[in-house]
Amino acid sequence: MADEWQEAYEFAVEVARKAGMVIKQEIDKEMKVLTKSSTVDLVTKTDERVEKIIIGSLKTKFGEKAHKFIGEESTEKGCELTDAPTWIIDPVDGTTNFVHGFPFVAVSIAFAVKKELEFGVVYSCLEDKMYRARNGKGAFCNDEPISVSDVKDITKSIIISEHGTDRTPAKVEKIFSTMQKILCIPVHGLRGSGTAATNMCLVATGAVEAFFEIGIHCWDVAAGAVIVREAGGIVLDVSGGPFDLMSRRMLSANHEDIAKRIIKEIEVFEVPRDDGVKHLQQPSSF
Ligand code: IPD
Repeated sequence: MADEWQEAYEFAVEVARKAGMVIKQEIDKEMKVLTKSSTVDLVTKTDERVEKIIIGSLKTKFGEKAHKFIGEESTEKGCELTDAPTWIIDPVDGTTNFVHGFPFVAVSIAFAVKKELEFGVVYSCLEDKMYRARNGKGAFCNDEPISVSDVKDITKSIIISEHGTDRTPAKVEKIFSTMQKILCIPVHGLRGSGTAATNMCLVATGAVEAFFEIGIHCWDVAAGAVIVREAGGIVLDVSGGPFDLMSRRMLSANHEDIAKRIIKEIEVFEVPRDDGVKHLQQPSSF
């Protein structure tokens, strides 16, 4: 049977590279910074321009109406994932880094069919690292196969957690309390690159054992989820239940033992879902 989505996968890599070139050209220029959900949730003209370039290129290639799009900058209210072939795009993952010149910024492009992620591409453009993975076909960085670390003992691990863009004191308290408990297990270290997509690729390459966050969006983690799974890792809800792309909660890890130990410490808090659905229970599989 012909490989229906291979062409789309290869094209996504091309488009991510083109988008990354624009980001690299713009990063040193004077930029106007606007805010979105809070005063620390930043957006620039480059985010909007790069998203237009990506969606425009995909529409030119595959037709105006063939696919649906969920893009960070063009999806204003709730995004719905249907059975239709759908691109899920973060044009500049790590906008705060981009604004400050902190050297981790990624283009994240995923593709889902019948609500299942088919492939994911993350271009960490300032490092020139092109991560990609397709269901059942392995994960790669700059065309070299990648795989997660084989560390199962949490006391020998590095864990990534981010604090996101919500500064509500009660939420910040839970985030830092979770980080403190994990740090004191103890683990070798806590890290964070400032881009969820890159964080997931760091799990996929074995540089760290896990990354979790509550408050991320589907466009931050869709591509990384395929890359982590294809590199041999797992992607779950922060409760240990199945990963739900629209839930804004995600834990990726190299191994179940590491995931289980982290889940024990996570102080979960409520965030509105990306699809606007009120509340879904996340049964733990552990
Ligand atoms: C952000 C980054 C960051 C994460 C935030 C995201 P953006 O994405 O992925 O690492 O902590 O939750 O919103 O806004 O730069 O695309």
